[in-house]
Amino acid sequence: MGNKWTDIRSIIGDLKSIPTLPGLISKLGALTENNKASAQEMARVVSTDQILSVKVLRLVNSAFYGFSRRVSTVSNAIILLGVNVVKSLTISSSIFEIMEKNTVGLWEHSMGVAVAANIIARELKLPEPEETSTAALLHDIGKVIIKIRLREDYGRLTQAIQEKGIMMIEAEQELLETDHAEIGAWIAQTWLLPEKLIEPIACHHNVEKSLVQRTKTSVVHVADVLIKASAFGFSGDDIVPQIQPVAWKKLGLTEPLLEKLLEKIEDKLVEVKQFSLEIQSGDESKAPHIPVV
Ligand SMILES: [Fe+2]
Ligand SMILES: [Fe+2]
Repeated sequence: MGNKWTDIRSIIGDLKSIPTLPGLISKLGALTENNKASAQEMARVVSTDQILSVKVLRLVNSAFYGFSRRVSTVSNAIILLGVNVVKSLTISSSIFEIMEKNTVGLWEHSMGVAVAANIIARELKLPEPEETSTAALLHDIGKVIIKIRLREDYGRLTQAIQEKGIMMIEAEQELLETDHAEIGAWIAQTWLLPEKLIEPIACHHNVEKSLVQRTKTSVVHVADVLIKASAFGFSGDDIVPQIQPVAWKKLGLTEPLLEKLLEKIEDKLVEVKQFSLEIQSGDESKAPHIPVV
């Protein structure tokens, strides 16, 4: 594994060419949950930057967290979502922007998986549903990195997917000898995002590999499969994989429970699509506010 990270680093190239807002990682990277000073410092850094505040609040108020009222200040966002989540949204906000503009299908897929993960976590009464939703929002971030850093390879990947009828991750493993899960986890690690989010990103295609955060990883995995099954957004291929037995078991799923979850998710997807269209048209004021699950 040690050498693999070196390979990924050489694939990604200069980290500075991965867009993040300047100085953010050094300002926010060390901040942690359950620490009053961290919460205050985060509120200070984000609130003093108007553009950043707008970006972060937009994500906080989007479909993924299901607040019944609009969150209007960064301090409130930190109280409601915690330092981990706000830090992760802030540091990743530039990547989300790239996704929205350049890979709308992947952006919709990511939003769909985040909403689905939120519904699953709440219905199953799992702890930290907000962190699970955030991990879900970020789960395919490696695909954006591959697309922006390896433009030529991306063309070869899409060709292999079409010609061979394989999944994106299989094409990546074949052509790049790594995949978006590893690359995403590496970036998240470099950005000093919390471990609770890194493991679901790293293991969402192989839940068995997840040892510490298996519940969150299972939720993200199941949410990913259900969103692909609903044909919502586009993750890079149309193949719907089976839910891995380890995730099925970890979450205590049954066929009727899965049916119920899928129904709730599909209801919500209409609103997610609406949100995406409003963002695409640049009029966020009309974006619907999605009520609590
Ligand atoms: Fe993935
Ligand atoms: Fe995905």
